[in-house]
Amino acid sequence: MILVCCFNERCIYCLKVPLVNIQTLLNQRIQAAMVAAGASDTAQALVRQSAKIQFGDYQANGIMGAAKALKMNPRDFAQATLEKLDLSDLADKVEIAGPGFINIFLKNVWLSKELVQLRTSERLDVNPVDAPETVVVDYSAPNLAKEMHVGHLRSTVIGDAVVRTLEFFGHHVVRQNHVGDWGTQFGMLLAYMARLRAENAKISMALSDLETFYRAAKTCFDEDEAFAARARELVVALQSGDEECLALWDEFIEISMAHCEETYKMLGVSLERQHVMPESAYNDDLQNVINELKDQGLLQESNGAQCVFMEEFANKEGEITPIIVQKTGGGFLYATTDLAAVRFRQHTLNANRVLYFVDARQSLHFQQIFTLSRKAGFVKPETQLEHMPFGTVMGSDGKPFKTRSGGVAKLSSLLEEAQERAYQLVASKNPEMGEEELRNIGRVVGIASVKYADLSKNRTSDYVFNWDTMLSFEGNTAPYLLYAYSRVASIVKRSEIDVASLTGEIAIEEPQERALAVKLCQFEEAIQQVANDGMPHFLCAYLYDLAGTFMTFYEACPILNTEDEVKHSRLQLALNTASTLKLGLSLLGIETLERM
Ligand code: ARG
Repeated sequence: MILVCCFNERCIYCLKVPLVNIQTLLNQRIQAAMVAAGASDTAQALVRQSAKIQFGDYQANGIMGAAKALKMNPRDFAQATLEKLDLSDLADKVEIAGPGFINIFLKNVWLSKELVQLRTSERLDVNPVDAPETVVVDYSAPNLAKEMHVGHLRSTVIGDAVVRTLEFFGHHVVRQNHVGDWGTQFGMLLAYMARLRAENAKISMALSDLETFYRAAKTCFDEDEAFAARARELVVALQSGDEECLALWDEFIEISMAHCEETYKMLGVSLERQHVMPESAYNDDLQNVINELKDQGLLQESNGAQCVFMEEFANKEGEITPIIVQKTGGGFLYATTDLAAVRFRQHTLNANRVLYFVDARQSLHFQQIFTLSRKAGFVKPETQLEHMPFGTVMGSDGKPFKTRSGGVAKLSSLLEEAQERAYQLVASKNPEMGEEELRNIGRVVGIASVKYADLSKNRTSDYVFNWDTMLSFEGNTAPYLLYAYSRVASIVKRSEIDVASLTGEIAIEEPQERALAVKLCQFEEAIQQVANDGMPHFLCAYLYDLAGTFMTFYEACPILNTEDEVKHSRLQLALNTASTLKLGLSLLGIETLERM
């Protein structure tokens, strides 16, 4: 956040947006200058961080487009813009480059003032937004018939990082864990529970390993016709509210949910019981959804099923992929529940934005749900519905990740293995450390490695799950960042200076000091991308760059063995780096260690 300019009543920058990040500030100022130079109100400055230091710290790329619209030579228009632009408070050089880029070189004194402001603010000078939104975030959402597996990792950790970041900006976030607890598989599971009960077996024991339980039930279902018939009856009984069935089902759900909660706890994810809004909760509303669609003339019968055909989903031959909302025989579907959920999120939760962190393979489903929800008026026109798709976690064989024996990788086993591997690793590096501390470091590093490996990849692509790369101390990994943090923290500690008493100038003289200063000022830009686009890898890349920039600075600029004035200035840079790494990692849901 930057306190801008003059606080003059008529100054548009001070009045409208007193606090913004550098990129936003430059965008506003340059855009205003472009308009003053004749561009239309909609012209955009398109300010970006410069790719190379010779292009300054920031570059505006919007001049060419605006000049084209004005039928002007872009360099002439850039010149006209500069004549209306005053950045003298924060930049000491603003130049035109190439076909009409504007390069901006920030002033060292201004950077230094910014840093002091960051240093003294717990939130690193990031202010809550002026107009908080209600953001409903649908994430994790495992199917309770089975144990959570590696496929749930992405939705859970990416969703949680975005939730934390949105809350940090002051938005009102409503977590919705849309767990799958309803559907035909439950008939099979209940039939198996009933059989165990009849044999006087301990159900809670059998359910302690859900995966095995599920497989055993499935085998009965596939091989025993009488069992399968019973299972089908039980689904009907369950859905029509039979009390005995409901009691069995409750027991199953309770145990399965407890498994999930253990995993959330191990992962350090902020989801709790109160955030669970299961599929079954919409059950009573499904007929209303159908009625409403019918009243609006949106329903069409096809082979006995109730469907919605929308032209938007036609292929080249004009064939439409419909949404099926009710099966022949009356059963409702996944889509029907999602339509009811959209209405609930709009009308009861009052969402301004609804974000869905769900596998990319469900993209068509969400596009259909969103389009239909708009047609049917289930959401206000201004409410944003955003599918945040992600790719698959792959094995080294190029197929979806499996355990060595070829089964689905249970998330809890994977997390245990991660902690054990990390423990072995740190124990071999620190033979003198006590067992308890080693175990704790193993836990933090192990969990962080799995989470960070996922968070640091662009979520839209697939990635390969690989223990060696995620646990490496080199590259964009959790061990590298956690180690960097503990190193910076230890430099500060070794100075034996009470950091609260550190005041005075932060001098920016060496190029490495300057590079670090600029990076530190860009924290808010990085987290803004996480909040806007639901993409935590931008923050990961930023933190990785920051740690590298610090290391380069530290090699070139000694901190502890220098005279006091320099020491105090550089210690503040170190302290800023440590707090930025710590806050950034915490927004990703990653714990830090003071030593490792
Ligand atoms: N339970 C679903 C699955 O495992 C994910 C649910 C996602 N959220 C939703 N509103 N459809 O595929």
